[in-house]
Amino acid sequence: MPTLIIAMDGPSGTGKSTVSKEVARRAGLPHLDTGAFYRVATLAALRAAVDLADGAAVAAAVDRSEIEYEDGRMILNGDDVTEEIRGEAVTSVVSKVAAHAEVRKQFVDEQRRWVETRGGRAVVEGRDIGSVVFPDADIKIYLDARAEVRARRRAAQTGEPAEDVLADIARRDHLDSTRETSPLQVPEGAVVIDTSDMRFEGVVERVLELIEANS
Ligand code: DC
Repeated sequence: MPTLIIAMDGPSGTGKSTVSKEVARRAGLPHLDTGAFYRVATLAALRAAVDLADGAAVAAAVDRSEIEYEDGRMILNGDDVTEEIRGEAVTSVVSKVAAHAEVRKQFVDEQRRWVETRGGRAVVEGRDIGSVVFPDADIKIYLDARAEVRARRRAAQTGEPAEDVLADIARRDHLDSTRETSPLQVPEGAVVIDTSDMRFEGVVERVLELIEANS
């Protein structure tokens, strides 16, 4: 079977995770959530009580940890932390960890290998997939949405006040898109889909059409 890599990038609150999982399911492809790696690195660093601003110390804490990613579950030193890495303690500081070049370097090769061992066929979601991890991806998608819409979606999920969420989203967007290493950007050759006024199903279908047109 030919290789088929679908890179899905974009900020949080665009529906990237749900859309990419559903696209993978319907297209019969494995799904790789690269954000989970930066989240588990953050948890490993928090548990080791290292300074999150110190990239070398965070990378060393990651090195000392055993990290496994299988069937969408993240295992840290034998402990299933899939839910814990989505909690507030990790979410509020993960951008700091994801900004360290030392940490990114640890994961990029691992992500490439993960896809390679699955025959080079996968839907991969993140922030730097079409630009850095798989610049030659067969299909590159960049999901976007207005900040207010993204804040509203997250507030509806978590019950937090929308203004607080909006401030947090603006802060994270700024960190993710201005960091020196692999900033969030629209990769060259990507199809940009603004999901602000679209329904989930419409977005999934649009991506499936692009896959269909490519094959
Ligand atoms: O998609 P997410 O919210 O799970 O991502 C968590 C953090 O990791 C977020 O700050 C963006 C960052 N990230 C990244 O820098 N590169 C990736 N490929 C995926 C996520």
